[in-house]
Amino acid sequence: MSSSAAATQEETAASVWARIRLADRRDVPNIHRLIRQLAEFELLTHLFSATEASLSDTLFPSPSLPPFLSFTVLVLGLSHSPFSEDGDAPLFAPIVRRIDLESAVEDPEAVEFASPRGEGIVVAGFVLCFPNYSGYLAKLGLYIEDIFVRAAWRRRGLGRMLLAAVAGQAAQMGMGRVDSCVLDWNVNAIKFYEDMGAEVVPMRRICRLTMNKLAALVDE
Ligand SMILES: CC(C)(COP(=O)(O)OP(=O)(O)OC[C@H]1O[C@@H](n2cnc3c(N)ncnc32)[C@H](O)[C@@H]1OP(=O)(O)O)[C@@H](O)C(=O)NCCC(=O)NCCS
Repeated sequence: MSSSAAATQEETAASVWARIRLADRRDVPNIHRLIRQLAEFELLTHLFSATEASLSDTLFPSPSLPPFLSFTVLVLGLSHSPFSEDGDAPLFAPIVRRIDLESAVEDPEAVEFASPRGEGIVVAGFVLCFPNYSGYLAKLGLYIEDIFVRAAWRRRGLGRMLLAAVAGQAAQMGMGRVDSCVLDWNVNAIKFYEDMGAEVVPMRRICRLTMNKLAALVDE
């Protein structure tokens, strides 16, 4: 083998192409698996009742709603070769980066998370966001409900890439801010957000009315 061929092989093992694109219905099985993994990570599987069908109906209604002005999922795909041109993405131009790895990554879930788009693409993470509104600012913002990178691929800048994709979109749309909510014990995620420039707001608590409480209030 020539030295240049050897170098190319090594380069393939030590780098990967990452692409963030708008999800569609075909991504639902992977999104469902990713949300389940997030619930397991957060020790909240007792709250996880979404099915592929309910995700599909709620995230991808027909007629479709405009991305970032409604529920929006971006999926992160990885490939060992450059992505082919994406001709069907008028609403959100995919973001592609080459990620240098210190060594080849073993992904035991690669088959389970194969992308519906084929070409050896593996889905490694996602972010789910939707618009909110600040009366103080009189501006729309984006709220990140879920952000997740599968365990095999963490600490390689992919979470940063997902968060930057949402933040960049918010900036481009003239929005006021991007919010997220993190469990108080999730110190790694807190470090992650802080590293991205986020302030952890100490004074706020989530006040949640769950479905049975909503029903109880209907008659009032
Ligand atoms: C949080 C999460 C999305 C970060 O994704 P990631 O791809 O691992 O993050 P990145 O590699 O882009 O990290 C960017 C920076 O965040 C910080 N960071 C990320 N993970 C960290 C960890 N485990 N410990 C300490 N700092 C961390 C670091 O400063 C890191 O930069 P560095 O690697 O150059 O030091 C990912 O760890 C994850 O999916 N965790 C489980 C689910 C979760 O906690 N989601 C957020 C809940 S709202």
